[in-house]
Amino acid sequence: MIAPSILSADFTILGKEVTDVENAGAKLIHVDVMDGHFVPNLTIGPLVVKALRSKTKMILDCHLMVNEPEKMIPWFAEAGADWITFHDEAAANAEMLIDQIHALGKKAGISIKPGTPIEMIEPLLSKLDLVLVMSVEPGFGGQKFMPSSLNKCRWLSKQKKEQNLGFLISIDGGINLETIKDAKKSGAEIFVAGSAVFGSADRNQAIQQLEQAAK
Ligand code: DX5
Ligand code: ZN
Repeated sequence: MIAPSILSADFTILGKEVTDVENAGAKLIHVDVMDGHFVPNLTIGPLVVKALRSKTKMILDCHLMVNEPEKMIPWFAEAGADWITFHDEAAANAEMLIDQIHALGKKAGISIKPGTPIEMIEPLLSKLDLVLVMSVEPGFGGQKFMPSSLNKCRWLSKQKKEQNLGFLISIDGGINLETIKDAKKSGAEIFVAGSAVFGSADRNQAIQQLEQAAK
């Protein structure tokens, strides 16, 4: 599944951009929430998520790159997010956050930065719906894919099989027609793509080509 990231969309026509990728067959849309503290960039708040909710039936996949995620999780749940992913590095008690998201009736995801060992989240795997592996340093679109993320996907895929778990493996950052192939081979199931989709004039073609490359 391709998850277009609106970080690279044209915000002056955001509604049209989202409709474009939905018409192109995207089933989910990735929303990068940055607070200017956890990452050196500031982006989207719940108001925008609420506006998107009224515009699309796609799954709203909200990636919270924020400190103190427990404060913001209810805002995004209320705004209509379907999946809420927080960063392990920002969580004082990740298990409690997963429970908080589930209590709000949403799917819970955890994300890890490139420098964080994947084994850190082993005890949480059985409770998670999604693991979002960062293949760039979070904060900006258009960066170069870090191949070290592939080992993390392999490890997750192995755990998933061995323990018969249901979480989805998503990869985020630097996904393009080349890197998506390695990500797929390593076990990734959801491919977040910002510049590879919205940087292309023909979004339909961009999504079709990415899907094809990931087959
Ligand atoms: C980066 C974000 C990504 C970003 C990916 O911090 O989490 O979702 O939009 O952009 P590309 O696909 O351009 O690397
Ligand atoms: Zn993201």
